Amino acid sequence: MEIIKTLGEFIIDRQMEYPDASGELTSLFSSIRLAAKILHREINKAGLADITGAASSENVQGEQQQKLDVFANERFISALAQRGVVCGIASEEEEQFVKFEETKNLDGKYVVLMDPLDGSSNIDVNVSVGTIFSVYRRVSPVGSHVTEEDFLQPGNKQVAAGYVIYGSSTMLVYSTGNGVNGFTYDSTIGVFALSHPNLQIPKDGTIYSVNEGNYIHFPNGVKKYIKYCQEEDADTQRPYTSRYIGSLVSDFHRNLIKGGLYLYPSSGRYPEGKLRLLYECNPMAFLIEAAGGKAIASPGQRILDIEPTKLHQRCPLFVGSPNMVDKLEQFITEFE
Ligand code: AHG
Ligand code: MN
Ligand code: MN
Ligand code: MN
Repeated sequence: MEIIKTLGEFIIDRQMEYPDASGELTSLFSSIRLAAKILHREINKAGLADITGAASSENVQGEQQQKLDVFANERFISALAQRGVVCGIASEEEEQFVKFEETKNLDGKYVVLMDPLDGSSNIDVNVSVGTIFSVYRRVSPVGSHVTEEDFLQPGNKQVAAGYVIYGSSTMLVYSTGNGVNGFTYDSTIGVFALSHPNLQIPKDGTIYSVNEGNYIHFPNGVKKYIKYCQEEDADTQRPYTSRYIGSLVSDFHRNLIKGGLYLYPSSGRYPEGKLRLLYECNPMAFLIEAAGGKAIASPGQRILDIEPTKLHQRCPLFVGSPNMVDKLEQFITEFE
């Protein structure tokens, strides 16, 4: 019989590594796993069911919500709430953080911050989307109501982070700070099986990922770096390859495996950058560092050290292979 290590088994094996071995984090992961399976099912039949297209609402980001944004948000919140493993949740799709009244939740030690459906503009055209999650230990006393302070913690306080990619196969990739592991979903038996143990990003890469349509609005150093990527140089294998899907999870996942750099700089349209610090930048920064990569918002500014001031804060993101991030940092410093 083939040997499969399931995500459930893997988490139990590793439980002793967690800061507390109470099993709460294990339940939290099993809630995320369940919601991911439900979303996998819905996304796979999206074209057949009435769940593609826009919902009739706008979120706090000023974005038109897609039906699947709303569905994914509800599924993840209810999966996490039911088991009483978290005392609160913050989501890209919720203006305020979600707090719970039941004792089982008030006693929860963790908060979850999430982007329930990342890349949602891609859903109608059958391109990969994802879910991003980030877990912190609460700072308010156990037994009390969760407070905003519980969510406004710097990324270096994350206990765990990960994403689900609903791609040509569905995968869950996560880290508790000690290595990054990837699990591929086998829908025939309903399990995530370990397929990518101990993921490490290559130190160098030849892929750059950016929405080049915004080029004219980019800071000077970023423009110069993009030109550098396009120049001919045999020693550094330039010109590099440009790859941009438009789903952070998918662009990040490809670069993690192959080596590369993802850029979402500030621009005229998004003076602070577009991506959300708490739901997108921090979890991805936590994962990339655990995989040997780097994530910065500006030269010398590690994403994980930013002190957040509001839930839906945005920030520039440069993330990927460490040597590529270093090179970009030199360009921004020199040409700003
Ligand atoms: P979301 O769908 O969760 O709102 O995130 C969209 C984000 C991210 O997934 C993606 O990389 C980026 O927006 C794409 O932005 P542009 O279309 O401006 O390139
Ligand atoms: Mn959105
Ligand atoms: Mn997103
Ligand atoms: Mn989203």
